[in-house]
Amino acid sequence: MSRFVAALYDRFMAESEVACLADWRRALLADLTGDVLEIGAGTGANLPHYPDGLRSLTLTEPDPHMQRRLVLAVSQGVERPFTVEISDAAATALPVPDASRDAVVCTLVLCTVPDPQAVLREVVRVLRPGGRFVYLEHVAAWDNPGRLRWQRALEPAWRILADGCHLTRRTGEHIRQAGLVVDSEQRESMRKALPWVRPSLRGVARRPA
Ligand SMILES: C[S@@+](CC[C@H](N)C(=O)[O-])C[C@H]1O[C@@H](n2cnc3c(N)ncnc32)[C@H](O)[C@@H]1O
Repeated sequence: MSRFVAALYDRFMAESEVACLADWRRALLADLTGDVLEIGAGTGANLPHYPDGLRSLTLTEPDPHMQRRLVLAVSQGVERPFTVEISDAAATALPVPDASRDAVVCTLVLCTVPDPQAVLREVVRVLRPGGRFVYLEHVAAWDNPGRLRWQRALEPAWRILADGCHLTRRTGEHIRQAGLVVDSEQRESMRKALPWVRPSLRGVARRPA
């Protein structure tokens, strides 16, 4: 299934990228600096939006089919003034020392990982005190009980079709429970997405100094 998802992913997301996602990615990443790590980088949708002010970028992607596309995206992209490394590490075992990253980026990943709280503990471990956690996720509908009922009903089938993706995660709560302090957060409908993945959350949180 992961081969199928990787092959279709960019086409499946294309309309939402144009309608909103590309703008959201650009705005979230625009002022990052220093050493940045991205978890579950997929096909590299965030790559064009990283600013030149980084010192290093570590991209983790454990799925071999996604990683093949990520390697191509890095090699075919424009030359960047910072180092770019790709790792096949899972988000629960990041291949970097404690407190070594100025920012961790996570977009459309916490819906899929088996244990989002374990991932967020790992994020806190690798962030420097004051370092930023930048996130963009689709989540459980927060203001529409009818849509939430649909999400619950569809979730078992969707998890099979979409390579483990959950529809009813309460990611905002998980981020706060992990001890990250939210600086800014927006909830918005992901335009042109399927109705059950539209409720979305994006923001920036910090590891307390
Ligand atoms: C929906 S895709 C999102 C890709 C990309 N981040 C984006 O914004 O388009 C989810 C990604 O999470 C990755 N993933 C799934 N489980 C993971 C895990 N345990 N650790 C790290 N990445 C994981 C998948 O391989 C896939 O590339």
